Amino acid sequence: TTSEYLAGRRVVVTAGGTREAIDPVRFIGNRSSGKQGYAVAREAARRGAQVTLISTVDTPAPEGCDLVPVESAEQLREAVLSAGGDVIVMAAAVADFRPATPAASKIKKGYGADDPDAPVIELVRNPDILADLVAARGGERTPYIVGFAAETGDADGDVLTHAREKLARKGCDLLVANEVGDGVTFGQDDSTVYLLRPGTDEVVTVGPASKDDIAAAIWDITRVGLSRRI
Ligand code: C5P
Repeated sequence: TTSEYLAGRRVVVTAGGTREAIDPVRFIGNRSSGKQGYAVAREAARRGAQVTLISTVDTPAPEGCDLVPVESAEQLREAVLSAGGDVIVMAAAVADFRPATPAASKIKKGYGADDPDAPVIELVRNPDILADLVAARGGERTPYIVGFAAETGDADGDVLTHAREKLARKGCDLLVANEVGDGVTFGQDDSTVYLLRPGTDEVVTVGPASKDDIAAAIWDITRVGLSRRI
């Protein structure tokens, strides 16, 4: 059947928001719940794939998925590069920046109400893992790579305009774009996403739908993209 194309394929999914250490007890994080990534992993396993779920979230892996727990973008990068997926789904919200040098011990506040010594945390750029994965592909364009984009409409354009630019810039095979902000999407059970592929202006809109239904739509559209390759 149409849902058996994943049988025996290695699928790697990243989920959750990365945590970038400030000191041993503090981090810079984001509001990603990991729910969409978990739904994508669960659906791939249900369709027969061998799934590795690389997750920052303290939630057990869905049935049939191997869990690789990570925290930082650097750990996530190592894990995804060594996982060997035929399909890689980068659902994780990877921090763009991390503290340059995490403190070795807990940063203490000075005492006295007018202590002026508030710490300044210097940040450096994290590698763009998705872009690196795309750049590392050979001529046969494997693995098949799915990126996510959380966008807000703004003065420079609407969500779809930003998503089209991101698809072109990242060079992935499928971009799953959704609108964020004001409590939309992050941590919610339902959302609306736009599925964009290179070489076509056609946009598939899914939703408002559950994250499970969105996961199914992602695997349905990935089947078409993958079958063109083989
Ligand atoms: O550029 P932006 O962060 O909006 O792109 C989102 C996509 O890129 C997601 O698929 C995310 O997992 C991935 N990403 C990444 N490495 C980063 C930042 C984002 O792989 N440093």
